[in-house]
Amino acid sequence: MTDLFSSGTMGGTSVRNRVFMAPLTRSRAHDTSDIPADMAITYYEQRASGGLIVSEATQINPQGKGYVSTPGIYTVEQVQKWREITEAVHEKGGKIFLQLWHVGRISHCHFQPDGDKPLAPSAIAPDVEVFFDGEKQPASEPQAMTHEMIKQTVEDYRTAAENAERAGFDGVEIHAANGYLIDQFLRDKTNKRTDEYGGSLENRMRFLNEVTDAVLSVWDPANVGIRLSPIGNQNDIADSDPLTSFTYFIQNLNDYRLAYLHMVERFPGMATSNKELKIQESLRNTWKGFYIANGDYDYLSGQMAVKSGYADAVAFGRPYISNPDLPERLEAGANYNEPDPDTFYGGDEKGYIDYPFMDEADM
Ligand SMILES: Cc1cc2nc3c(=O)[nH]c(=O)nc-3n(C[C@H](O)[C@H](O)[C@H](O)COP(=O)(O)O)c2cc1C
Repeated sequence: MTDLFSSGTMGGTSVRNRVFMAPLTRSRAHDTSDIPADMAITYYEQRASGGLIVSEATQINPQGKGYVSTPGIYTVEQVQKWREITEAVHEKGGKIFLQLWHVGRISHCHFQPDGDKPLAPSAIAPDVEVFFDGEKQPASEPQAMTHEMIKQTVEDYRTAAENAERAGFDGVEIHAANGYLIDQFLRDKTNKRTDEYGGSLENRMRFLNEVTDAVLSVWDPANVGIRLSPIGNQNDIADSDPLTSFTYFIQNLNDYRLAYLHMVERFPGMATSNKELKIQESLRNTWKGFYIANGDYDYLSGQMAVKSGYADAVAFGRPYISNPDLPERLEAGANYNEPDPDTFYGGDEKGYIDYPFMDEADM
C-alpha cells in the first residue's frame, strides 16, 4: 500500500517519498537586489530528503513584490544564486520546483518601480497591512491593470519560467493561492472588471489560462504544478460561491494535464467550517491528477490521507521550518523540534539553518 514513505512518479518527476516541503517565505533575500542569501543554499540542502521541495514564493518581476527581503527570478544574478541552490539540492538527491509569484495588490508604492501604484484586476485596496521600514502600513490603493499591463505580466511569467529552467529547477509551481494576483483575478471580491477578464467564470479564469499557456510554452505540463486555496480568505480575498467557481476552474485545469494540484486546505490560525470542508472534499474529487494536500497535517493525518488515496502526497509547512529531516523523523516516530515564529520572517541563521537534526534523544 502506498504511504507517506513510498516512492513514486509525479508527472515528469520521480519522488522518493510523499513528504513534500510546502513553499515558505523566510524573508532573508538581499532586499535591494532580491537575490537569495548564501545561507539559503544550506537551508534548502538541509531539507532535500523529502519527495519534493517547493521553493518560497519568488517574484516574477519587480512589480510582483510586496514584502521585505523576498527573492526574485528576473535578473541574471538571481538566477545564478538559485542555480547554486538547485545544484545543492540535486547533489543530495532531492527535487525542487520554483514557486512563481506576483503579489498584485498585496503591496505598497514603496516596493513598486518609480513608486507607482501596485497592480490588481480592479482598483480596490485590500484591508491588509504591509511591513517595511520597521513598521506596518496599510497596503496602497492599487491600479486596475490595463490590457498592456496584463500582456506584459504574462510575458514576465514566461521569462520567469525560462529563468527557472536556466536555474536548474525540476519544475515550477504557479502560485494561484492565498489572495495574490492570480487569485485576485479568480475571485469576485477582488475582480470587478467588465472586460474579458471579469464577470463570467470563463473571463475570471482568462488571466490564469494565459499565465499557464505562457509557462507551458517553456515547460512540459508534466513539470508544472499549480497551487490553489479555494476556501482560504487570507489577504482579504473571498468568493461569493467558491464551490461553483473553483469547480469550474479545476475542471478547466484538468485539461492541461499538469504535474499536480497543490491545495491549501487550511491556513494557520484560521477556522474551517464543516461547509468549507464539504466544498474542499468536492473540489478534491473534481481534480483528476496528482493531488498534494496541505494544511495542518501531521504524521497520522498525513498517513491516512495518502493510504486512503485521498492525497498522492502531503506538503508540510511549519513542521519543515524546524525539522530539516522531517521525513526521517516521521518515519522513525521521533519528536519534532518546535518552530519559533519569531524567526519565521527575516533575520539571520538563527531559526533558519540551525534547527538540529534528529539524534537518539528525539526517539
Ligand atoms: C512562515 C510561512 C511562510 C509561508 N510562505 C508561503 C509562500 O511563500 N507561498 C505559499 O504558497 N504559502 C506560504 N505559506 C503557507 C504554507 O505553504 C502552508 O500552506 C501553511 O503553513 C499551512 O501548512 P502547515 O500547517 O503544514 O504549516 C507560508 C506559511 C508560513 C507559516
